[in-house]
Amino acid sequence: MDRFDIRGGTRLAGRLTVKGSKNAALPLLAAALLTDGPVVLRDVPDLADIRGMFKLLTELGCKVDYTPAESADAAGGVVRIQVTDPTISHARYEIVRTMRASICTLGPMLAKRGSARISLPGGCAIGERPVDLHLRGLSALGADITLDSGDITARTPKANGKAGRLRGARIFLGGPFGSTVLGTANVMCAAVLAEGTTVIECAACEPEIVDLADMLTKMGANIAGAGSPRVTIQGVARLNGVDHRVIPDRIEAGTYMCAALMTNGDITLDNCPADALMAHIDRLQHAGAKFTVDEQMDPMRTLCRVQGAGTRGIQPIEVTTQPHPGFPTDLQAQLLASLTLADGNSVITERIFTERFLHVAELTRMGASIFRQGPTVIVSGVRRLVGAPVMASDLRASACLVLAGLAAEGTTIVNRVYHLDRGYERMEDRLRSLGAQIERVNDKEEVGVPAAQGVG
Ligand code: EPZ
Repeated sequence: MDRFDIRGGTRLAGRLTVKGSKNAALPLLAAALLTDGPVVLRDVPDLADIRGMFKLLTELGCKVDYTPAESADAAGGVVRIQVTDPTISHARYEIVRTMRASICTLGPMLAKRGSARISLPGGCAIGERPVDLHLRGLSALGADITLDSGDITARTPKANGKAGRLRGARIFLGGPFGSTVLGTANVMCAAVLAEGTTVIECAACEPEIVDLADMLTKMGANIAGAGSPRVTIQGVARLNGVDHRVIPDRIEAGTYMCAALMTNGDITLDNCPADALMAHIDRLQHAGAKFTVDEQMDPMRTLCRVQGAGTRGIQPIEVTTQPHPGFPTDLQAQLLASLTLADGNSVITERIFTERFLHVAELTRMGASIFRQGPTVIVSGVRRLVGAPVMASDLRASACLVLAGLAAEGTTIVNRVYHLDRGYERMEDRLRSLGAQIERVNDKEEVGVPAAQGVG
């Protein structure tokens, strides 16, 4: 398993291009199942999860050709998808268990092929990850859904003995934690080919949903209200191929913004979706970071300079994660890392995935002072973090530990960086280009981690 060896204490400075968004690209790739025409996606990042989706689409009867970006400064590569065999509609457990976002192939497959079978995604390190809202939405469109031996099987209503079309409906998609991003994507992709009008109330408002609606509209779909809690879709009979550029990754950009704050650095981001990061930028400004954003450019692809807090130091803040446009749960761990060095007590409340604190114990190993009470943690700023061997547990917790290592005194070893490779492209190279002292080491045993204990 690979690990990162990080020697902390360097102020990061330089320029990076923000890559295309993983969380936009995954539902966009799945939406390619909705058409018989050629689909071209640009600015597609080279990530483990993206390659997992390529593999799944190939298994689902698509020809997938990916050309990675020529230079590190490009926002991503180009993928060309062509459905060649629409009779295959089973997303197997072996693939789904490695990437729960596979669930977003359910809606497109069902709508286009009349049936779909997909392994029920399990939970993960940040929580149970149920899909009840996805199934509620598809059932409302007339799908017959059964759960059998760990698989979801969905079928459209029969018409003259054959698989018919779904029917438009009014659907409330809210759950106890607000809406569902991939659930909204699934229902949208099913509704665009349904008969009649669909109204999705309490739809996710994330920028990735807007990007999906943009692509579907270019394919011939009729969608209004994407980005608002109410999305209205007039079903059409078929969709055409498309050539679409993926929006930049707001979570990757937000992570490097935290790196600038934590190391009191000076980082300029090209292709930065500042318009999708207003909550995060607001919190970082209150913590002392300084921002310079080019107001003349497209606010979703702008030039954004982030400088650290200088002699004043990082200031304590309060933050609660919420659905977009609130503060994103995917930046909670990274912001928490920054606040371990603040001049006072910060309060962070996690309202989306209430168990998303596996990074706390690891930060404590580095000298952070954090007190957790349920979905809330109080972070008492300390003067310094001290490097230590730590264990990555999930994608964003891994990023948090890398950031802490960059600011810590001495050496930090972050084990199991395969978690990180799911959502950050060549993070060690990109950080090194900003001056970080970081190496990827391929090591059989994990340094500083007790050998696996016998099962008691
Ligand atoms: C997407 O996951 C993102 N993943 C996640 O990013 C992100 O954390 C999450 O949205 C929230 O913003 C991708 O886009 C690939 P949800 P998704 O359905 O759609 C509950 C990362 O780090 N819920 O919006 O699976 C759920 O338990 C990843 O890049 C139900 O109760 O998340 C959670 O509490 C991690 N029933 C809340 O809703 C359902 O049917 C939001 O989940 C679905 C969700």
